Amino acid sequence: MDDRSTAGLDLDYARSRFPGLASEWVYMDNAGGSLPLGSVIDSIADYMRHWPVQLGATYAPSAEAGRRVDAGRAAIARLMSMGGHTSVDPETVVLGASTSSLFSRVARGLAPGIRPGDEIVVTAVDHEANVSPWHRLQRHGARIRTWPLNLDSLALEARDLEPLLSDRTRLVCCTHASNILGSVTDLGAISRLTKDAGARLCVDGVAYAPHRAMAVADAGVDFYAFSLYKVFGPHCAALFGRREALRELDNQNHRFFSDDYVPGKLEPGAFPYELVAAATAIPDYIEALGRRSGGDAFAAIAAHERALSGRLLDYLGTRPDARIMGSAEADAGRLPTISFVLSGRPSASVPPVTDEAGLGIRFGHFYAPALMTALGLEPDDGVIRISLAHYNSLEEVGRLIDVLDTKVRPAR
Ligand SMILES: Cc1ncc(COP(=O)(O)O)c(C=O)c1O
Repeated sequence: MDDRSTAGLDLDYARSRFPGLASEWVYMDNAGGSLPLGSVIDSIADYMRHWPVQLGATYAPSAEAGRRVDAGRAAIARLMSMGGHTSVDPETVVLGASTSSLFSRVARGLAPGIRPGDEIVVTAVDHEANVSPWHRLQRHGARIRTWPLNLDSLALEARDLEPLLSDRTRLVCCTHASNILGSVTDLGAISRLTKDAGARLCVDGVAYAPHRAMAVADAGVDFYAFSLYKVFGPHCAALFGRREALRELDNQNHRFFSDDYVPGKLEPGAFPYELVAAATAIPDYIEALGRRSGGDAFAAIAAHERALSGRLLDYLGTRPDARIMGSAEADAGRLPTISFVLSGRPSASVPPVTDEAGLGIRFGHFYAPALMTALGLEPDDGVIRISLAHYNSLEEVGRLIDVLDTKVRPAR
């Protein structure tokens, strides 16, 4: 058995849980949005059919709707601590429509405390969701310092953060994994550096959460957000905050709420109840997958994803015209988000060919235009991105390779 064996993951079971996989399409744009679980879809319909009322009243259907929404918040907290990690208190989980909106809320909550000269570190790698809100704090006197991409490792390195930190640093914002490079950030080292500087750490977990256990309570973060629609769920998002970090944020809700009203003071207009209630299906699925896959779902997912990445990276390695943006090795630390450019061929010219073949992939800057510039690319044409999920198969990757090999030949 070679070291890329997919033994472990019960792929048939995994695939049986996603109705979208019955389609003719092969979905390889999972970092854009994953397929939803069938159980998530059913749960949304069930909630809307049986509990079509507003929460918070004493009559039975309203009370039951409230219980289901509370269970959804608790399930999201469970998802954030799966794999035997320290559990997350559901009262420290803020819910919203998207990660972008949640980070913007945190930024608005921090704004009144910003003093001229306070410094905020953002990265040249992140999706703008974890960059733009902090840039807007310049209006309040904050100074932005940019943590560069390390051009040797094509990842964010703690040693490049260190010289940016000082006693003026208030906040460090970085991604847990790049949605383009597939690289994973060493949060342990970064959290130690950030704490030593007396600053807070805000992490974008969106690209990481579909692949590995988030373990947010053990990661030394102050804020950590991810989007459920990329983790097999509905279109909503959640942000974990350390209780004291949440408490110090300015109230973003009605003025009669106190600063201690966490997480409600950060949930103006609440959130889509039926979507949050449906989130219970996600950790249930991961647990069931673990039981069928040798006990540890995330270990089985990682091994399978490594096999998928290895097949594609090996193929790209044989193409003289391909430049892989990220590690060319399918090692344990790499996520199956594989981006590349082809010399002499615009990235935009590839998806029309794969579309024809029924393969869903994408090109562009993926809202990380600064990363494109750091890589020496023209942001609008960006990269071709193949983003795989654990429910993809080696056969699907083989179909993609066939199409690239026969229909996207190296330009002369
Ligand atoms: C890495 C990363 N961060 C943040 C976001 C923004 O998430 P949302 O759409 O929930 O605002 C995305 C969306 O593509 C992303 O890929």
